[in-house]
This record gives sequence, C-alpha cells and structure tokens, in this order.
Amino acid sequence: MSGVSLVQATRQLPCSVVIITTQYGDESDAMTASAMFVSENPPFLVVSISKTFKTYQLIEKSHEFVINVLAGDKVNLANQLGSIHGRDIDKLTKFNVVTEKATKINSPVMCGCFANFECKVKTSLADIEGEHSIYLAEVVAHKINPGLAPLVWLNNRFYRVGNECKV
Ligand SMILES: Cc1cc2nc3c(=O)[nH]c(=O)nc-3n(C[C@H](O)[C@H](O)[C@H](O)COP(=O)(O)O)c2cc1C
Repeated sequence: MSGVSLVQATRQLPCSVVIITTQYGDESDAMTASAMFVSENPPFLVVSISKTFKTYQLIEKSHEFVINVLAGDKVNLANQLGSIHGRDIDKLTKFNVVTEKATKINSPVMCGCFANFECKVKTSLADIEGEHSIYLAEVVAHKINPGLAPLVWLNNRFYRVGNECKV
C-alpha cells in the first residue's frame, strides 16, 4: 500500500463500538471495545481485552460480561469509558452510566443502547504474543432497540451508521 504504515492501514478496518460491562462481587467496570460476530448457531461473539485492564481481571473471575452496542448519541461516553481506567476510578458512577439487571448473568446491562448481549465465556486465548486475551463468548440473552443507529469506529474516528445500500 502506497506510503501508508501498517498501523495506519489496520485503522481502515471498520469496527463495532461496544461497552463491555463486567461485575464480580462488589466490583464492576465498563470499557469501550470492539466486538465481532463469529457464528449464529451456536450464537458466538468475540472480544479482545488487554490483560493490563480491570475489565480483564473481572472477566477472569466471573467468566461473563455484557456487550452493549452503543448508539450514535453516546459518542462522548464511548470516548470517556475508552480512555480512563477502572483501576483508578469507579467509571460507572463517575460517568453516570445507567444500568439495569441482566436476565441470565450478574454483570449490569447498559440502558439506551442499540443492542445488549449477555455473554458467558466459552473459551479464551491468553497465551498469544502481545498483551491481549481473546474471549469467545456465547450469547445467552439479548435486547435490541432498532429505532437507534449504532456507532462505528474507523480510522480513529466515530461514525454513525447511515443509509442502507440497496442491492
Ligand atoms: C473506540 C475504542 C475501541 C477500543 N477497543 C478496545 C478493545 O477492543 N480492546 C481493548 O483492550 N481496549 C480497547 N480500547 C481501549 C479501552 O477501552 C481503554 O483502555 C479503557 O480505559 C480500559 O478500561 P479498564 O481499564 O477500566 O478495563 C478501545 C478504546 C476505544 C476508544
């Protein structure tokens, strides 16, 4: 590719913008991430979480999390939860994140999202080079709000999903 570094090139891959909410005992956290669809049957999604983060520590103990797909009006929250660490402050309280109880797991579900997926970890890949752990998770409950438009992350910027391309 002409004059473009590998890092810049990888940023051209459009990604989902989700908040991973986790809880173990009295401890909870919320962090911005990307999630990828893996399979419909069984319903599997995958996320990649840095092993240096509080979110990772909570998932390792609880083996569950919620993938909350953000709507376009939550761009500031995506930025805040994606730049401050839960080991330093209680992000859910600091940023007034409104949650409700999940139906099948203990981690909190974020209100006002495009979609919410309650997930149980099926397996993980932690012994790979680099600092991330990859979690393959089964969706055990879901909620959709089709009236909202989801966010997308592309080239270090946020976009709102717009017009459908008809075939
Ligand atoms: C749009 C966006 C996507 C991100 N995706 C990921 C990701 O997939 N995995 C990851 O480990 N960090 C990702 N981050 C960075 C974390 O959200 C950020 O470091 C966060 O503060 C970690 O939270 P914690 O320390 O409370 O767990 C992303 C940040 C942004 C803004």
